[in-house]
Amino acid sequence: MIDVADVWKSFDAGKIAVLKGVSMEVARGELLALCGTSGCGKSTLLSLIAGLESLDRGHIRIDGRERITEKEKVALLRKEVGFIFQLHHLMPDLTLEENCLVPVIAVGGNMAAARKRMRDLADQTGVAHRLDRSVRELSGGERQRGALVRALMNDPHILLADEPTGALDEENREIVFSLLLDLVRSGGKTLVMATHDKEMAQRCDRVLHMRDGRILPA
Ligand SMILES: Nc1ncnc2c1ncn2[C@@H]1O[C@H](COP(=O)(O)OP(=O)(O)OP(=O)(O)O)[C@@H](O)[C@H]1O
Ligand SMILES: [Mg+2]
Repeated sequence: MIDVADVWKSFDAGKIAVLKGVSMEVARGELLALCGTSGCGKSTLLSLIAGLESLDRGHIRIDGRERITEKEKVALLRKEVGFIFQLHHLMPDLTLEENCLVPVIAVGGNMAAARKRMRDLADQTGVAHRLDRSVRELSGGERQRGALVRALMNDPHILLADEPTGALDEENREIVFSLLLDLVRSGGKTLVMATHDKEMAQRCDRVLHMRDGRILPA
C-alpha cells in the first residue's frame, strides 16, 4: 500500500540532512507506529508520504503508483490521504464546522452527506458542541480532535497521524485512539502514526523506531 524506498531528504540546500535512506512498507489495513526521539525525522517522513514535501532521492509509491504531477498530488491529498498534523493547522478565524467542510468543498462532495458525517464524527470525538465556534476559541485538545474530524471528512483510505493525541488528557486520548483503531480494524483504513506514547505504540500492529534520520533494524 505504502512503499518508501531509500528516501533522502535535506533542508537548507542540503545543509540539514534529515532523512538518510529511509525504507519501509506499510500493508493495506495495517496500523503502524513510528517512534523515535524528537527531531529524528518522523514528521518529515509523514509529510513526504503525504506529498506535502518533495524528496531529494528515492521514491514513495502509494498503491503502486508514484505521484508525478502536482495535479495528481493534490488529488491524492484531498481524497485518498487524511493527514492529522502535529500542529493541527485549522484555520483560526473559521468555525470548526467551516474547517471541516473545506476539504469537502474542495472535492465537490455532497454537502448534506458531509454535514451528517461531520456531526457523527464530532459526536464520537466529543466536539459536537464546539462545531459552531471559531477555532480561536477552542482548547488545544478540542482543536486536535477537530482536526481529526476534518481529516476524515472525505473518508480517505490512508491516514497519516502526527502525534494525534499529543495535546489530549487520558480520557480523550483513549477516545481518539479508539476511533483510529476502529477505523483501521473495522473500516479497513491504513494508518501510520508518529507517537511518543509507548502504550499507544504497543497497541499498534507494528512499531518502527527511527533515530537520526534512519529506521533502526527491528
Ligand atoms: N522546513 C525545515 N527546514 C529546516 N529544518 C527542518 C525543516 N523541517 C524539519 N527540519 C529539521 O529536521 C529534523 C527532523 O524534524 P521532524 O519534524 O521530522 O522531527 P520529528 O521526529 O517529527 O520530531 P518531534 O518528535 O519533535 O515532532 C529536525 O532537526 C528539524 O529541525
Ligand atoms: Mg514531529
